[in-house]
Amino acid sequence: MEHSAFLPTRAARLSLSTLLGALAWAAFPLDSDAQSGKGARTAPMELTQPVSATPWTRYGGWPATDWKDYNTLAVLTSPAHAPPPKLDGPIAGNPANGEKLAFDRARGGSCVACHIMGKTTPALPGNIGPDLSTIGTWGRTDQWLFDYVYDPRSVNPNSMMPPWGAHKLFSVQEIHDIVAFMKTLKTPHVFSNELENPATRPVPVETRDNLDPFVNDGMAAVERARGIYARAGASGKSCASCHAAPEKSFKTWAATMPRYDARLKKVIGVEEFITRHARSTTGDTLLMQSADNIDLAIYLRHLANGTPIKVDTTSKDAAAAIQRGNDLMARKIGQLNFACMDCHSLGANKWVRGQWLTGTKGQIAHFPTFRTSRSEIWDLRKRFQWCNVAIRANELPPDAVEYGDIELALTALNQGQKVNVPGIRH
Ligand code: HEC
Ligand code: HEC
Ligand code: HEC
Repeated sequence: MEHSAFLPTRAARLSLSTLLGALAWAAFPLDSDAQSGKGARTAPMELTQPVSATPWTRYGGWPATDWKDYNTLAVLTSPAHAPPPKLDGPIAGNPANGEKLAFDRARGGSCVACHIMGKTTPALPGNIGPDLSTIGTWGRTDQWLFDYVYDPRSVNPNSMMPPWGAHKLFSVQEIHDIVAFMKTLKTPHVFSNELENPATRPVPVETRDNLDPFVNDGMAAVERARGIYARAGASGKSCASCHAAPEKSFKTWAATMPRYDARLKKVIGVEEFITRHARSTTGDTLLMQSADNIDLAIYLRHLANGTPIKVDTTSKDAAAAIQRGNDLMARKIGQLNFACMDCHSLGANKWVRGQWLTGTKGQIAHFPTFRTSRSEIWDLRKRFQWCNVAIRANELPPDAVEYGDIELALTALNQGQKVNVPGIRH
């Protein structure tokens, strides 16, 4: 046993939990056998310091708006639903302007993200909503059309459509124009080819070999992580000092994550474990979503590739976290007022404009994933953050309790799927 890493000068900089962790570790022989099941031990973790950049600031290049007036996964601030204003006569809007607004990508994604709207429909419309090409013949009253666009909840409490007026995406006058445009739609739309038609558009299938380093740039993370794993941190120790045979020790570990941690009273995933465990062992600061953290997270999951996901779903704390996660995924958030499940359950296997929406099964086992459209590796929490910002909801820091609950709930839905990391996606 060597104690040189814990000389007083260094020890003075280490927290109490670090020392306790080191003591716990010192009582055991080298190399973890977390997998063997004999003598379950608790991995040392620093429990109090921040694990992500604090205060959290949104990534550069992402939309910068602060949507503080609308619900997030953590805070409920959206305006209460109220009845739309009553029209004082028939709609007399400008249909040409309404058409422009309905197709404007900058205004909440535009109506054609979800609807086909007659012969001038722009490229690659989506099909989450009904084809509105003949809505002008459906006998809807002006007030009904206005209400549906202003705030569909006033007509259909279960609507997944954004409340375009109530959430200030369009002004009342602009909605008059959009309604005037809809009233001109009377002829079924004929698509020029099968690609344009969301009903016949071929579904994208990811067939690239994600484990081939010539195909997936994400594979470079595995190589980089081997270096980080062997690199001595501030304590003088590396991961390898205590876990000399990671292929053996960690063959299944990542497939059991995330898990509820009784010390932190929250769900933690591989990434938060790395930050807290490194602080109390190697002495390194590996904040969540830093390059080194993501590389190590890929490595630990890569070691578990092929292992079926098996998270705890039954203990009291895990079951409660899963319930909270499912409730959060049904919560309407952001200016666009979507719940995760609007897109990934109701909208699953449909097109939102040119993007195919996946259901919750199949969403987990390939994270972290290299995104070829952005040349970036995203861990799961970054994906959650983007799915927040994309619907105009402020994202949470990666270590947010809410993301932990959602991660466990989603992983529980993917129980049995084999870990396959790093993934590759568009
Ligand atoms: C000073 C020794 C020490 C160092 C350095 C160390 N660990 Fe550990 N690690 C432990 C101990 C002790 C445990 C708990 C008992 C066990 O599983 O062997 C553990 C457990 C783990 C586990 C299993 C966690 C669980 O929930 O059971 C993983 C994964 C792990 N370590 C990864 C790492 C990585 C990655 C690094 C480098 C950042 C690292 N360790 C550095 C001592 C260390
Ligand atoms: C995220 C997808 C989505 C977007 C974007 C969207 N809608 Fe909808 N829309 C729907 C869905 C789904 C329905 C039917 C069920 C419901 O309300 O959930 C619907 C229904 C409607 C209806 C009622 C149709 C009827 O039965 O008479 C109208 C009108 C409508 N949308 C207009 C619009 C307009 C105008 C826009 C753009 C300002 C728009 N929608 C944008 C998803 C969407
Ligand atoms: C407006 C629709 C929309 C909403 C709402 C939404 N997402 Fe997504 N999400 C997408 C799109 C588009 C993609 C990329 C295509 C795909 O994989 O479905 C995606 C991808 C994902 C993925 C990665 C899937 C994979 O296989 O790589 C996860 C995980 C995910 N979303 C989780 C969430 C969570 C959690 C929420 C709620 C906080 C949420 N999403 C809300 C549209 C949405």
